Order: sequence, then structure tokens, then C-alpha cells
Amino acid sequence: MKNKHNVMSDMISQAVNRMPLSGIRAYFEFLGDDKNVISLAVGQPDFETPINIVKAASESMLNGHTGYTSNYGLIELREHLSNHIESLYDIKYDPNKEMLLTSGVSEALDIAVRAIIDPGDEVIVPEPAYVAYKPVILLAGGKYIPIPTYIENDFMVDPEAIEEQITEKTKAILLGYPCNPTGGVMSKEKLLKIAEIAEKHDLIIIADELYDRLVYDIEHVCFAALPNMKKRTILLGGFSKSYAMTGWRLGYIGAQAEILEAIMKIHQYVMMSAPTAAQYAGIEAISNGENEIEMMKSEYNKRRQFVVSELQKIGFKVSDPQGAFYVFPEVKSLTNKDGNEFAQALLKDQKVAVVPGDAFGESGKNHVRICYAASMPQLIEAMARIEKFVS
Ligand SMILES: Cc1ncc(COP(=O)(O)O)c(C=O)c1O
Repeated sequence: MKNKHNVMSDMISQAVNRMPLSGIRAYFEFLGDDKNVISLAVGQPDFETPINIVKAASESMLNGHTGYTSNYGLIELREHLSNHIESLYDIKYDPNKEMLLTSGVSEALDIAVRAIIDPGDEVIVPEPAYVAYKPVILLAGGKYIPIPTYIENDFMVDPEAIEEQITEKTKAILLGYPCNPTGGVMSKEKLLKIAEIAEKHDLIIIADELYDRLVYDIEHVCFAALPNMKKRTILLGGFSKSYAMTGWRLGYIGAQAEILEAIMKIHQYVMMSAPTAAQYAGIEAISNGENEIEMMKSEYNKRRQFVVSELQKIGFKVSDPQGAFYVFPEVKSLTNKDGNEFAQALLKDQKVAVVPGDAFGESGKNHVRICYAASMPQLIEAMARIEKFVS
């Protein structure tokens, strides 16, 4: 007779048994709920969703829009999104056949990967990478092939390093820029080289561009808008970060019709449709959200400059994060502690929470992720505590 523990793990699929728990989640369990802790650990805006967006959703519900929508999502929102993407990046998605609304980029990522990956297919991913990339690839039966990126290059992935890893099993490259956790962005020049590689080896690019609107002093390059790339790119975008809508669970996919149809096959069974009230909120966000985006972005920019300069003054090696709202300093050289040791000691001694870099892959192990989407007074206090901790 097997003991209970074995029986339990036998009940769980091998794919799930192989999956590690999210490093971030493990860290939060360790964090507890001490009210004196300043948390720079959560990747979430400290702003509330702009009130006009909230009102649009509540009015939609009061007007009786409480049922499912089309599996693809409200055509009105798809049309708005399609025009919006065209005005930003000069690329046109047909709202009828090339756009799908999802429950956040989280769902979009999962169903995009599952729609294209067969067991054994390899997916190349620049690392440090967003925590969900590896698990969704493994769950689809794919093989995760990380390519380390470095602080010295502002965490831009080297196209040659990508090409070296390509085998006949390589199916896709998953690019997440602006990057969570590093704040890194990609130059157009490097993206063009990746586009050439994708064409040469007939690869699909999954481009997670959730943070496209949160870039500072530069222009975001939409991968799908590069020459010839629309046909082989699955564009993932969303509302969580730039519109401060993490709880609404709204994202989207843009892809050529055949690929979109394949992704939609999964979506219709696992999700049916994106949350209806959130879709009405999305229409308002796209139609009247620009001023709020700019206001939040300019706040983040001030905080970014402050945090980077404070970390540099303390003596950390820091890259210049030009996107998202994260900084990913290297902590080992200055403190002789790896990211885990640093984060735990900082929390214990000074009650500041940051995320150990290895939560985002092995290559992040001497770093920590600091999210600067917190209020300026909190950031000022947190930086003072970090300085005290180091000295
Ligand atoms: C790079 C990246 N992709 C996807 C997600 C998931 O976002 P959503 O809230 O749209 O599901 C996140 C959330 O932190 C993220 O940072």
C-alpha cells in the first residue's frame, strides 16, 4: 500500500509535478503580512483604475450587459484596438479575423503557446524572463531554451546568441520587451536581426508587449510591424499595467487569421469570452485613456530616475531600465550576497521587500527586482533603508 503522500503526487500529472512554484509566490509566503514592510515586490501599479473606465464598466452592467460576449470579444473593442494599434505602430489587424480578446496576457500567453507547440518543440526565451514563460512552455510539452542576457548590455538579447541555439526542433522565440523583471527594451536594430533569423529558420515570434506604453524617452518597436513579420508574429498586449487594470483581467492577441483561429479554438473551450464588464471598460480605456496613461507614465518616469540614481549612489551595478516599472540591480558585487540572501536579509533587517532575481531564471541569481510602481514617499524611505542596510 502506498503512503498518502505518494498517492497524492501520483494523482497529479507529471507535467505539473515537474513545474516549480513561482519564486515570487514562495517569496510572498515568506513575507507574511507585517504592516511595517515597504513592499517593492509586487508588479502592480499603485494607481487605481481611472474613474471614467470604472464607470463605463459599471454602466454596462447596469444596462444589462452581464452575459457572455462573442468568443472573440466585443467587435466594438476589437475595432477600437485595431485602430489604436494602427495609429501607434502602423500595422493593421483585421478586427473580424485577426484579433482576440483574452483574460489578461496570462491567458493569451498560455493559449498562444499551446496553439503552436507540439511535444518536444523548442522555444527560445531571453532570460531573466517573466515567471510564466517557462511553465506555459513546459505545460504545452515544449522545451524551454533560455538565453542569458546581461546587465552590461542593458539586458538586450544578442541575436547571434539566439541563432546559436536554433536546432531543427526550434519552433518559436518568445520575446518579452519591455522586460519584466529587468526593465530592458530592445533596439530596433537588434529586433531587425531577430526578424531576419526568424525568416531564415521559419520561426514564430511570440511578442509579449504588455508594457509597450510604458517606455521612457524612447519609442517602443512593435515586432509585428517590422517588415514581413506580421505573418509570423503573435502579438500579446493588455490593459493591466498601462491603464492600471490588473484586476480586470483583459488582454488581447493579434495574429494572422489562421494562427488566430487555432488559438481561438482553445480560448472558446477554456475561457468562452473575456470578462464582459472589463471589455466595456477596455472600450473606454482605449477611447479616453490617453491623458491618464501619460500622467501615470510621467510619474513612473520620475520614480524610475530617483530609484536608479539612489541605487547608483549606494554603489550597486544598475542598468538603465527604459521600460516597464522595474529595476534589476546586481547586488552580489557590493554586498557579497546573492539575490536570495540579499532579499531575505533586507526584509529581516530593514523591512523592505524586493524579489530575488532567480525567480526569473538562473541568470538572475545575483540580482533583485525592485518595482518602482510605489508612491514617492515609500520609495524615498525604502532607498534610505537599503542604504542603511548596505552600509
Ligand atoms: C511580461 C508580463 N507578461 C504578462 C503578464 C500577465 O499580465 P496580465 O495581467 O495581462 O495577465 C505580466 C504580469 O505581470 C507580465 O509582467
